[in-house]
Amino acid sequence: MNAVVEVRDAHVVHKARSGGLFRRDRVYALTGADLTVAAGETVGVVGESGCGKSTLARVLVGIQRPVSGSVAFRGRDLWTMPPAERRATVGAGVGLVFQDPSTALNRRLTVRRILRDPLDVHQRGARAEREERVRELMSLVGLPRALADALPGQLSGGQRQRVAIARALALDPALVVADEPTSALDVSVRAQILNLLLDLKERLALALVFVSHDIQTVRRMSDRVITMYLGRIVEETPADRVTDAARHPYTRALFSATPGLLDPIDPIPLTGPVPSATRPPSGCPFRTRCWKADGLCAEVMPDFSAASRPGHRYRCHHPVEEEESTRDLADLARQEP
Ligand SMILES: Nc1ncnc2c1ncn2[C@@H]1O[C@H](COP(=O)(O)OP(=O)(O)OP(=O)(O)O)[C@@H](O)[C@H]1O
Ligand SMILES: [Mg+2]
Repeated sequence: MNAVVEVRDAHVVHKARSGGLFRRDRVYALTGADLTVAAGETVGVVGESGCGKSTLARVLVGIQRPVSGSVAFRGRDLWTMPPAERRATVGAGVGLVFQDPSTALNRRLTVRRILRDPLDVHQRGARAEREERVRELMSLVGLPRALADALPGQLSGGQRQRVAIARALALDPALVVADEPTSALDVSVRAQILNLLLDLKERLALALVFVSHDIQTVRRMSDRVITMYLGRIVEETPADRVTDAARHPYTRALFSATPGLLDPIDPIPLTGPVPSATRPPSGCPFRTRCWKADGLCAEVMPDFSAASRPGHRYRCHHPVEEEESTRDLADLARQEP
């Protein structure tokens, strides 16, 4: 297979940020994550705040080392290679776009310098070629040439994010990871930036991993949707199936709660708070909020099962039937005590 990046059984554990009594607590930010991203595909990542989306993104681009498990970029294990080689591999092969372009860009550098910097660091081409590449990058992301000498502070939010995207593309990466690339932007420019990402992805045959709270946007943009819950990947669904045929109760609940359905329904209720990532529940982490949970769910985290469609897998003891309508599920869930 044409895998750009392959994550196997990756775990990330942080020391808790809170001091005092719980000083030695551990945060299970990512647990047993498996994910392969192929050339040219778009993978969307959804899940509530704190479920580990950004952690997974950081693992994918080789800036977060998992405490166990492996990350291979084009078949080569990132964390067993010498650090200099890893920096070169990641630096040239992966582009990252963050949420907030105003903090992601060095405010003292002009657009031209920001875009030339990765070319200089990785010694791409002669000086004139680098200048030419900067012009090419600006036109690729739709920035007028006149802005080459502008500082980030002189640009609009949308323009800044275009600079960040151009910088991510500077070295012709095989993979771009965008972590909430539009959530800091005005609503009016979000669609432009999303369309730009989609357009670039097509034109450059990039693999794109896209993290967002806006799950309808994720669904529209992606080929495949990854659902995360409390540090775990609990389902992987072809995007065109995710609203109606997802098998994990949590995926169905997430997608029932957002506008964008043709025929909106009362969402599937999720009762109770998200448990702490410091003390995840035994067994399936979703069981404390799941209307289907029973004793088995409290004991064992199920392995992945394959659904009928290739590329669709889920971890649940009591999956939703593919043909079961989300509307019926919502009614059912409401009847549970
Ligand atoms: N450096 C860190 N130190 C301690 N805990 C951390 C650190 N980074 C993340 N965490 C914790 O790890 C868990 C996963 O965090 P992560 O940022 O990956 O979630 P997320 O899904 O991206 O959330 P959001 O949607 O709010 O961006 C959270 O409980 C978070 O508080
Ligand atoms: Mg995040």
